[in-house]
Amino acid sequence: MIIEQLSPKGGVSISGIDMSRALTAAEGSQLSAAFEEHGLVVIRGQNLTKRQLVAATEPFGGPELNPAVNDCDPEAPGISEIRTRGPNGEALHDDDDALVGDIAFHTDQAYITAPNRGKLLYAVEVPQEGGGTGFIDGFATYSALSDTIKAQIEGLHVVQSWAHAQATIARNKAYRVDGEQELADNRFADVAYPMVLTHPHSGRKALNVPPLWASGVVEMPGAEGQALIAELIAHITRPEFAYWHRYRPGDIAAWDNWRFLHAAEGTPGRYARLIWSVVIRGGPVMGRELGMTIYTIDPGQMPNWPADHLSRYLATDGAEGYWADFTAVRGPAKAPNLILTVVGRQSRRRYRHGLIYGETDGCCVIIGSKGGAPDHPAWYLNLLVNPSVEVQIKERKFHATARVASGEERAELWKMMVDLYGGYADVQGNTEREFPVVVLEPVAD
Ligand SMILES: [Fe+2]
Repeated sequence: MIIEQLSPKGGVSISGIDMSRALTAAEGSQLSAAFEEHGLVVIRGQNLTKRQLVAATEPFGGPELNPAVNDCDPEAPGISEIRTRGPNGEALHDDDDALVGDIAFHTDQAYITAPNRGKLLYAVEVPQEGGGTGFIDGFATYSALSDTIKAQIEGLHVVQSWAHAQATIARNKAYRVDGEQELADNRFADVAYPMVLTHPHSGRKALNVPPLWASGVVEMPGAEGQALIAELIAHITRPEFAYWHRYRPGDIAAWDNWRFLHAAEGTPGRYARLIWSVVIRGGPVMGRELGMTIYTIDPGQMPNWPADHLSRYLATDGAEGYWADFTAVRGPAKAPNLILTVVGRQSRRRYRHGLIYGETDGCCVIIGSKGGAPDHPAWYLNLLVNPSVEVQIKERKFHATARVASGEERAELWKMMVDLYGGYADVQGNTEREFPVVVLEPVAD
């Protein structure tokens, strides 16, 4: 494997590796290390099937098979096609000269609170003109700021707005940017993200003001915030920061969505371009939905916080309580919560519990940690006897069947949950008992 600098603006180019076969442990760890360090990796000269492309995400964190809005290929779950031609090669656009699919610098899944780690784009068919992907390294744009601006923006939050981006996304509808098909202004609520994002793996700081999504500043409503956003976008989009990758057929471009902005150059309508894309799954919650209040636990004043949390959640349909901040009890972390209702194995009474949850493939995942106690939580013992449970997420209520994950699935889901809430790994060390990992599968009512 040969690893070389991709451009003076960042990234590495990798050749001498065949991603269509199983990688050796050494190859896998070299790729992982290159991705962690550089955040942008272009692997040259590949010849892959869709399933092999999905498998190629493993060194970078594995695939997300049901991303929030992508419509995926049923033959190869996880793959979306980005194309300027229909499935039979027919032109999709009337104007040969107009650029299709050009889209401003952005982060993916910026409108949800736990964005994907990254993405792989694989060049199947490359146009004679255009079709490039732009990359801007958030570490570089942050470190180039003056100390005055760094101090000014520390602690501020950018509003990332789905509605704000609609004008651009709708214009590119035929090109299916990010696989968007339904285009409703209010599909996702606005979310707030730190303007200075601390990278969950490296701890380095990235400037996070995605031009496509950024509509304001939480702490500076109105014109003052918008002026700051405009100033920061002007800084970020200076030509010296952007690397434009122009694909050769068989290139895979993989980037870290927690660090790099990316943009699509667009392709003149007369040219065919076909890219297969696959999302690298995310984990940690980085943003929060605006209009939601974080329930902050204060164990000093509130020894009975679980009951208080539950009653606030139920009273507000989660507007207070869906997000809970556990800093006071288990180290810094805020995490999303659901309400689980189980039937008592002896009493037959219904019991409700507020629990941290993660989501995967349309199911919810919960952990029976009980704060690291030596015995399993009562809700777990109850659902072993009666796995028919009820779930409430914000105002949405549904029935689900609970099952206990084991083997490889457990290992994967445990890792996902520790990424979501690091406190689990800490308290697991307090007990011999292995925490049960429970999957809640929705059932049709
Ligand atoms: Fe994108």
